[in-house]
Amino acid sequence: MPKTIIVSNRLPVKLKKEDGKYIYIPSEGGLATGLGSIYKEGGNIWMGWPGVAIEEEKDKQDAIENLKKSNMSPVFLTEKEIEEYYEGFSNETLWPNFHYFNQYAEYEERYWQAYKRVNQKFADQLSELTEEGDKIWIHDYQLLLLPALIREKYPKISIGFFLHIPFPSYETFRLLPWRRELLMGMLGSDFLGFHTYDDMRHFLSSVNRLAGIGNSHGQISLGSRKVLVDALPMGIDYDKYATVAADPETLEKEVRYRTLIGETKIMLSIDRLDYSKGIPQRLRAFELFLQRYPEYKEKVSLLMVVVPSRDQVGKYKELKEEIDLLVGRINGNFSRMIWTPIHYFYRSFPLHALSAFYRMAKVALVTPMRDGMNLVAKEFIASKLNKKGVLVLSEMAGASKELSEAILINPNNIEQMVRAFKQALEMPEKEQIKNLEVMQNSLKRYNIHHWVKLFMERLDYIKSQQLALQTKILDEASQLLLEEAYRNAESRIIFLDYDGTLTPFHGDPQQASPDDELKNIILKLSENPKNQVVIISGRDKETLERWFGQYSLDLIAEHGVWLRLHGKKWKTLAMLKDNWKKDINDVLEDYVGRTPGSFIEQKDYSLVWHYRKVETGLGELRTRELTSHLKYLASDQNLHVLEGDMVVEIKSSEVNKGRATQKWLKDANAEFYMAAGDDWTDEDTFKAMPENAFTIKVGNTPSAAKYSVTDYSDVRKLLISLCTNKKEAIT
Ligand code: UDP
Ligand code: G6P
Repeated sequence: MPKTIIVSNRLPVKLKKEDGKYIYIPSEGGLATGLGSIYKEGGNIWMGWPGVAIEEEKDKQDAIENLKKSNMSPVFLTEKEIEEYYEGFSNETLWPNFHYFNQYAEYEERYWQAYKRVNQKFADQLSELTEEGDKIWIHDYQLLLLPALIREKYPKISIGFFLHIPFPSYETFRLLPWRRELLMGMLGSDFLGFHTYDDMRHFLSSVNRLAGIGNSHGQISLGSRKVLVDALPMGIDYDKYATVAADPETLEKEVRYRTLIGETKIMLSIDRLDYSKGIPQRLRAFELFLQRYPEYKEKVSLLMVVVPSRDQVGKYKELKEEIDLLVGRINGNFSRMIWTPIHYFYRSFPLHALSAFYRMAKVALVTPMRDGMNLVAKEFIASKLNKKGVLVLSEMAGASKELSEAILINPNNIEQMVRAFKQALEMPEKEQIKNLEVMQNSLKRYNIHHWVKLFMERLDYIKSQQLALQTKILDEASQLLLEEAYRNAESRIIFLDYDGTLTPFHGDPQQASPDDELKNIILKLSENPKNQVVIISGRDKETLERWFGQYSLDLIAEHGVWLRLHGKKWKTLAMLKDNWKKDINDVLEDYVGRTPGSFIEQKDYSLVWHYRKVETGLGELRTRELTSHLKYLASDQNLHVLEGDMVVEIKSSEVNKGRATQKWLKDANAEFYMAAGDDWTDEDTFKAMPENAFTIKVGNTPSAAKYSVTDYSDVRKLLISLCTNKKEAIT
């Protein structure tokens, strides 16, 4: 049975040695909860590093066995690998580069070599667990080379990749000496997800500039393999945070902390120790705030949690010292007997304690210099059951693209931060409630489960597109097969598109009239009593009548608006009602699901997708994608897709080739079916054909057809060979 394997640098549990024995500490990060629904199921697996270097073979075996019970598979790293791959290349090279801290980046060849070796180690271990048909979901910057390493071994397997940190602009990314290898590593994936549209745009631009590969609507063509790139902001387990916030254990903790801290208003910050989080900048802003507005002394305290992280890395050690100094200075200068300006904790807290902090805080300060997403901002919002509280949020955090009702600040602008602190503390309750409500509704909908589901859907979607692309070239063997089926059939139905299929497509429609060769083919084909030939075209009925009126065949004009059964008069095909709307609405719902801020408007005869409240750029991108999606995917609906001012309107144009084909075929019963066509309107004809039909696409773009040929002359050759079929000639 196919399984899903999740791979990340860290497992969702950490091992820690206590009194000579290893204990297992569950990781509380958003990812572990979100992916919990996947990796715990059936034979699924989560593979990653258990967080320590284990030396003893016996301890390793114990860890393997214990973790296996919870569907986890550990990758053991040596001390040297931890130093060079994890602390080194991952956190001293990639992390600063991707967060625009280039001055902190180390470009060490030995780190790079270790990064390659450890990615290979992950690949080897992953290969042992992988079987054809499995899905692999790789996470984050520590494993950028892994997708291509797995692709090499399993060319057909589904590989998804999600980057949890920002992807920098090309100008920054190009500074990395190994930039091209890193990109090519990522491109081993079928689907690449980023938190924001900007991240994906930066990635696509780097792929374009460094690898010379362009994209169309976020799809990159790598030879015959298509890679999909999309923005998919990660959500939180909303219900979990809302439930814990109402839990008696949390309420009890809140009362206890409140008694200890006193009645001051709490401004809260929770971050890992990281220079990307803007902790010193925030402290300086808080200091300036107290100087500028002395009336807030004794009234406001900053509750600051800094979670120890990567403390073996030089810049992190320096940062810790800087924070300690700043907190010491501010508390030293401003403290009073009854009031401490900053309650500073350098440690981590369990979930209920964090939840109590979220509840107590009047204001949350989430002010990173750069952050891929920032889940703390979202957790704070979800924990505010009384809807009272204000979020001050850096516009450099991915979360700011979704949480536009927060007070947005630029963390480099200390004056603006100080003003924001004051504004947050003084915001009227009515306004707080209004803002929180909007943000809560959005976070409830775009929660972690939704994110996981969407990721998997996007991965499946691109895989199905890749399969559709595998239209076989009509080679000699397939042509023989077709000819044999034709020869053996007593009744045959042949649908032929005109422009581009039977004749080269001319810009000037006047020049496209059938030449003598074609007239001869059509005559031979249509006069055979076993054949029913249908010319199905976008041309108007007058033109088709002029060109083909004299033959014994049927004509479908204007993509199916008009039908002329041979010898009879033209008639319009029955009008459609609005039953197309349900299918299209489902497609639009999918886009709404992936595009925070967008919504659907229902009209009597059309559907409108609005994107004026969507992140700038993302709406435009989705519009392009939606337009082509509808054109290509709507299997039996021919729709007019109109782009307006921040809207896309979809109207039924009532008829299409697919519907016309279906209608024509309704009572038909033949032994041989064939259809040939060259553009997207013919895709509908292909799909309306019975399973056993020989469908032929002219050209090499993706198609639902079974076979493809290069151009119209191949179609003519095929038809000539059918008309002059020897056995046929004898009978
Ligand atoms: N967190 C935690 N214990 C703590 C402090 C924080 O488990 O003592 C969690 C927090 O709830 C959040 C995560 O750590 O889910 C931090 O994620 P975020 O996206 O804010 O930042 P990152 O650390 O990934 O850069
Ligand atoms: C960020 C990264 C994760 C990483 C986490 C903790 O969220 O995106 O990949 O696991 O920080 O960092 P650490 O170095 O402790 O794993």
